[in-house]
Amino acid sequence: DKIALDEAKKMAAYAAVDQWITEDTKVVGIGSGSTIVYAVERLAQRVWKEGQLGDMICVPTSFQSRLLILDHNLNLGDLDRNPFIDVCIDGADEVDSQMVLIKGGGGCLMQEKIVASCAKTFIIVADYTKKSLRLGEQWCKGIPIEVSPMAHVPVKLKIEALFGGEAELRMAFRKAGPIVTDNGNFLLDWKFVAKREYDWDEVNRVITLLPGVLETGLFVNMAIKSYFGMADGTVKVQN
Ligand code: A5P
Repeated sequence: DKIALDEAKKMAAYAAVDQWITEDTKVVGIGSGSTIVYAVERLAQRVWKEGQLGDMICVPTSFQSRLLILDHNLNLGDLDRNPFIDVCIDGADEVDSQMVLIKGGGGCLMQEKIVASCAKTFIIVADYTKKSLRLGEQWCKGIPIEVSPMAHVPVKLKIEALFGGEAELRMAFRKAGPIVTDNGNFLLDWKFVAKREYDWDEVNRVITLLPGVLETGLFVNMAIKSYFGMADGTVKVQN
């Protein structure tokens, strides 16, 4: 029997928190999205019900993540005071067999990448629909790219000319016009050519260097482990 997606997210998040967060963990990076909600829930259980992890500081990766930390009465930190993060836990939209990630489905990729880059250990929690052999294998919602508003057209055209596919400005729901990120920028969703072989490290470097690009949702060589809640109710760990 297939378990509910939310149950899969919860199992992955609980397993990762229990494996990686110990009394020695002083600073935790808190990702964004629907799976991370369960990770924070588990952290709060351990702090408030089990009396553990008292001094742990949580550094958010988005407005949503900051609210989650505050709602659970955890210690809110920031990179000014806590630039060295022990463990960062986050979700992902897709994870390939080499642990290349697509992130930013929820629009929070830039702060997520900055916080993850400050972490000794970066762990992904996700449900089974995010697990792929190669990116774009099942569907291609695109790779989110955060751009300065004035550069969205030139960046779109450059990405399409360099790497094919189509980069679409992400439009808002119940607001006229584009989505504005937590950092006041726009997002392009680059629908790459799923059948083409890309060197994601190279693609990420080239796109990041385009003037007007703030960050990409491609996370290469960053995560060391992914916890997937599987349809059969188990948790699969990928290195
Ligand atoms: C937020 O912008 C994203 O990078 C999320 O980390 C990613 O979309 C995973 O979200 P879910 O846990 O909701 O799938």
